[in-house]
Amino acid sequence: MAFRLTTAGESHGPALVAIVEGLPAGLTVEKAAIDADLRRRQQGYGRSPRQQIEQDEVEVLAGLRHGRTLGTPLALLVRNRDHANWAWGMSPWPPEGDPSGKGTRQVTLPRPGHADLAGALKYGLSDVRDALERASARHTAVIVAAGAVVKALLGEIGVAVTGNVLTEDLEQRVDEARADRDTVGGIVEVRAQGVPPGLGSYASKEERLDARLAATLMGTQAVKGAEIGEGLALADKRGSEAHDEILRGERGLYRETNRAGGIEAGVSNGEEIVVRAAMKPLPTLMRPLASVDLQTGEPAEALVERSDTAAVEALAVVAEACVAWELARAAHEKFGGDALGDFVAAHHAYLERIDWQPRTR
Ligand SMILES: Cc1cc2nc3c(=O)[nH]c(=O)nc-3n(C[C@H](O)[C@H](O)[C@H](O)COP(=O)(O)O)c2cc1C
Repeated sequence: MAFRLTTAGESHGPALVAIVEGLPAGLTVEKAAIDADLRRRQQGYGRSPRQQIEQDEVEVLAGLRHGRTLGTPLALLVRNRDHANWAWGMSPWPPEGDPSGKGTRQVTLPRPGHADLAGALKYGLSDVRDALERASARHTAVIVAAGAVVKALLGEIGVAVTGNVLTEDLEQRVDEARADRDTVGGIVEVRAQGVPPGLGSYASKEERLDARLAATLMGTQAVKGAEIGEGLALADKRGSEAHDEILRGERGLYRETNRAGGIEAGVSNGEEIVVRAAMKPLPTLMRPLASVDLQTGEPAEALVERSDTAAVEALAVVAEACVAWELARAAHEKFGGDALGDFVAAHHAYLERIDWQPRTR
């Protein structure tokens, strides 16, 4: 069965949901590991007080028995505790009783840089909230939950994925921006060790691993650039300085350099996978930018709503989950297996055939 991840959920709705399809049967999934990643996503310097309301925790509704996958769709759920404050405003059904709590007034002041204007126009919305609730990155919580599950699968074949922030002086930049009622972005990097050569394919655009990793990163809120290996910097180099020479040592073929970030021609080459994503400064500003009231047509200031000053550290966790998902999907395409043992055995047999062992740098 093909790997597929479907998510649903609004920022202040009752809950976020992910359905993960394609996992082999017999994979041990630990609630503590998923919850630990959910907590990592909530932490980080510059996040809004909402993170104190939400204590994200995964619930599993289907696909798991006694902590092991059944080979059937896995249904993950993370509740929005904040929904209690939005019960009327974000009620899935026509709300009963007098308006109370948050989200009761229509939003008509679109924020530059957010989904507000484009979403309202595209879907014919009079209340911008109908656009911003789903566009919000809140639902990356269930992407992180799904990522934690597939990291367990990757662990079975010795692949480890880690996301980190590259931006220097992040805390100082956040403090300065917050004092000015402004926001900041930053750069994150994800590295994957132990990825064997041969994941992805040059046969078509859709199969290229570099394209898939770029798409999953660019598909994440606020990411405006993605690069593989030395990426944009390669454009200024000569060929002799840009590529990774192929050497033969005691443990087989290897490279001294990894400018390609572990991918050549859309296929993993056995070196560490290295990808980076650039996050723009978050669009909700406490000192709002100019906008237009969609109801009156008059110039106005954009919506001000509780918001992060920065979410770069959270993005590192989300990007790690996204990269893990794509690598697991590509690994499962290559090794197949309805049962975990089949997947692991195919990986083992392949490594024997190509005589490859993971290298630690
Ligand atoms: C983990 C994470 C947290 C975010 N938190 C906020 C936030 O608190 N306020 C905000 O305005 N944007 C936040 N964003 C970014 C917006 O969701 C994003 O800018 C918006 O949906 C428009 O999409 P675009 O930036 O991809 O064009 C966050 C993004 C991520 C990845």
